[in-house]
Amino acid sequence: MKITVVGAGAVGASCAEYIAIKNFASEVVLLDIKQGFAEGKAMDLMQCASLNGFDTKITGSTNDYSKTSNSDICVITSGIPRKPGMTRDELIGINAGIVKTVSTSLVEYSPNTVLIVVSNPMDTMTYLTHKLTGLPKHKIIGMGGALDSARFKYRLAEALRAPISDVDGMVIGGHSDVGMVPLISHATRNSIKVSEFISNDRLEQVKKDTKVGGATLTKLLGTSAWYAPGAAVSGLVQAIACDQKKIFPCSVLLEGEYGLSDLCIGVPVVLGANGIEEIIEIELSESDKVHLHTSAEGVKKTNSLLEV
Ligand code: 2OP
Repeated sequence: MKITVVGAGAVGASCAEYIAIKNFASEVVLLDIKQGFAEGKAMDLMQCASLNGFDTKITGSTNDYSKTSNSDICVITSGIPRKPGMTRDELIGINAGIVKTVSTSLVEYSPNTVLIVVSNPMDTMTYLTHKLTGLPKHKIIGMGGALDSARFKYRLAEALRAPISDVDGMVIGGHSDVGMVPLISHATRNSIKVSEFISNDRLEQVKKDTKVGGATLTKLLGTSAWYAPGAAVSGLVQAIACDQKKIFPCSVLLEGEYGLSDLCIGVPVVLGANGIEEIIEIELSESDKVHLHTSAEGVKKTNSLLEV
């Protein structure tokens, strides 16, 4: 199983590290445009192999896409991260050009790859990749909901004063501070609805904290987060590489599901060897339906800024 990660910055390198530590891939190629950077990160990560107990071979490349040939899964993390006070949408001007170059170069050398898009504004970058590569729709996945759901569970566990292993929850919708839809009505503490334990006011605060989870970290760190984004991507990669048939909220191209079409936005999907094995249409409350459609309007507005 060969995995390519483009972008050897914090998110890409964290993703490569988590993939290696999980030890399901034979090879990870880390590629970056900055001279020697990916090679250095790969060497540093390989020097963890005996310490962290993995056999995965990590190599680095400075912008030589021939080294990524015949990758089974390719992850696009390249692009600029946001600074404090910025929205993800403000990155579109620079990141669209980068994602265009990267996605077409990857598919040229790995025409059968599954592509996972992380670069922001992620839902729009995922949509752009569909327009540019011509890959079948089940092979293009945007990573945002897996990260947002992890932050949702973190906030729920905090409110519940419960171990995160007892908490389950999902965030759908756009990967944006205003577009996320944390599904409170589906969230549970060991199969018990969280509303049995937490007041509505406190649940509203959990939703608010979840939606600005990325911005909160950007304010603290001075740049975008990387550990949880990297870990979230590695979970999607593992589900595909190991044909796990696991459900994640991912940004996928909708063609009528949830009453939405011609956009990529976060909804529950089954991930396996073929990439998106199934898009799952769950029962939503009227309020969540409205939030999802409003979120979709926001994503489409950002999509309209693309010059494809
Ligand atoms: C985040 O929310 C980078 O969009 C990513 O941290």
